[in-house]
Amino acid sequence: MTSRSQLPSVLLVGCGKMGSAMFEGWLKHGLKPSVVLERHQSITLPAPHKQAETVADIAPDFTPDVIILAVKPQMADDVLPELAQRFPSATLLSVMAGRTIDSLARHYQQTSSKVTPTIIRAMPNTPCAIGAGVTGLYAPPQATDTQKNECDSLLRSVGETVWVESEELINAVTAVSGSGPAYAFLLAELMEKAGIAEGLAPETARKLARRTVYGAGALLNDSDLESAELRTRVTSPGGTTAAALNVLMAPDAWPTAVPKAIAAAVKRAEELST
Ligand SMILES: NC(=O)c1ccc[n+]([C@@H]2O[C@H](COP(=O)([O-])OP(=O)(O)OC[C@H]3O[C@@H](n4cnc5c(N)ncnc54)[C@H](OP(=O)(O)O)[C@@H]3O)[C@@H](O)[C@H]2O)c1
Repeated sequence: MTSRSQLPSVLLVGCGKMGSAMFEGWLKHGLKPSVVLERHQSITLPAPHKQAETVADIAPDFTPDVIILAVKPQMADDVLPELAQRFPSATLLSVMAGRTIDSLARHYQQTSSKVTPTIIRAMPNTPCAIGAGVTGLYAPPQATDTQKNECDSLLRSVGETVWVESEELINAVTAVSGSGPAYAFLLAELMEKAGIAEGLAPETARKLARRTVYGAGALLNDSDLESAELRTRVTSPGGTTAAALNVLMAPDAWPTAVPKAIAAAVKRAEELST
């Protein structure tokens, strides 16, 4: 785990669901003086960190080690030219789904050809807020080890990191882990509803479903066993779990639905990239 004051200074652009999840984690680990650029809502930040509503509001002597782009993909172009004028050779870490390095660089460089950003892509997920995130990262060949280490240290402070070999693979990361928490939340939601349908009190069903998804996740995290092995170990032949799994594992059920869902998320990420 990263010790206090080791994390680089950041300019966090966009402090919504993902930006705030990461920033909360970074604060716990000791971040060098940083700025959060968030235009409409007021963010409570401990000193020495500051909020700015526009790039022009950022103190002239502030130069971040890393600029984190955490706005919606379609909103980034509004702010990139201003950032480029102010920080022409920045290290940019984009957590935006589907925005390619090329498209970001084009917008960053539109004001001047002297602008030379290094853009690294990352796909974190919201469990970063409790230090339980996982992030896939990709760096282009020109990124230096220092730049990669700075980005890695930020994301490792809020979970685990994996680096992928090509930028296209970030779309697969997006579909599996970036969007993945929603799949687990859906499972908890459906288990809760089914429990209520089977006669449990709503509060009881809620607690049972949420705690089960949480506990299974914690077991997965603690175990070196394959997930299929963990499943097999709690499934007695002819028992209750087997009865449920026969439904879920029918060829037209989860074995079809889950790959289809992930492929749909990859396709959407590809569409956003064009
Ligand atoms: N949510 C996730 O689970 C998740 C996971 C992985 C990656 N991501 C990526 O993270 C990015 C952000 O997603 P999100 O869910 O956090 O979105 P969000 O909650 O809408 O947050 C974006 C924030 O940025 C602000 N903003 C937009 N343009 C700005 C500007 N020019 N200057 C300052 N602030 C600006 C928005 O303010 P306004 O509302 O006033 O516009 C909003 O508060 C997306 O690109 C997404 O692909 C999200």
